[in-house]
Amino acid sequence: MRNLIDIKDLSVTEIEELIKVAEDIMQNPDKYSEKCKHKKLATLFFEPSTRTRLSFEAAMMELGGNVIGFSSADSSSTSKGESVSDTIRTVGCYSDIIAMRHPKEGAPLVASTKTTVPIINAGDGGHNHPTQTLTDLLTIYCEKKRLNNLTIGLCGDLKFGRTVHSLITAMSRYENIKFVFISPEELKIPTYVKVNSNIDYIETKDIEEYIDKLDILYMTRVQKERFFNEEDYLRLKDYYILDKEKLEKAKKDLCIMHPLPRVNEISTEVDDDPRACYFKQVAYGKYIRMALLLKLLDIK
Ligand code: CP
Repeated sequence: MRNLIDIKDLSVTEIEELIKVAEDIMQNPDKYSEKCKHKKLATLFFEPSTRTRLSFEAAMMELGGNVIGFSSADSSSTSKGESVSDTIRTVGCYSDIIAMRHPKEGAPLVASTKTTVPIINAGDGGHNHPTQTLTDLLTIYCEKKRLNNLTIGLCGDLKFGRTVHSLITAMSRYENIKFVFISPEELKIPTYVKVNSNIDYIETKDIEEYIDKLDILYMTRVQKERFFNEEDYLRLKDYYILDKEKLEKAKKDLCIMHPLPRVNEISTEVDDDPRACYFKQVAYGKYIRMALLLKLLDIK
């Protein structure tokens, strides 16, 4: 039985296989329409979500399976004081696989010790978000045709941004990857992410300083829910706003990504730019999650 708690739970070869399956699903959806017949996915979201929860649910439905679950802690017995452990032991009796999002770092890892069904980390606090990373890798592979020889700019909240942490960990395993970390001082990438990943990087506060060098620009939201005081959030929330003017010096084949939701950090005027990939990224998320469900359920 396999879980996905951290992107490193998957080898580079396994990620390549998932990308191949996702591409095949995109080209031949009918071949997969009954692969998960009689299987049940439980989506347990203790934190809000639009893309991750709904793409998991759509993924299972398109594989012919069923979905149960809840979209907020308030609508489950957590609100009566039930522990995560007891919730997981219970839901493991009703489902074949569980996708779980929780505000506490490490909660999905703890959950994986309480049940015999596979647990997928759908985001744990400011820690990791491995299925967003799989989405990002599929997006990069489909848009750039490679996962090596890339200069990747990551911009915004690099301190609390779990999608950023997982993506750096994942990309550090490919050849000739250079990172440009673009953030205000208060939201710099944590040292443990830089050290553990052993990466080639530079840091700047200025989004335009290296924009002409980038193959990928990964924008992120300043996350209100991770701040301890509102004053800091208000000061930093609009630190970066990507607009047409800032993109003038960027490469013609730049790939602009964002895990979404967006607030103000990408002006809507950028949405029509052919380099804007963030809504394609949303679509890729469903296909890679379909491939992941098949893998973790051991369905060929
Ligand atoms: N990218 C992402 O995790 O989006 P949601 O919070 O809407 O799931």
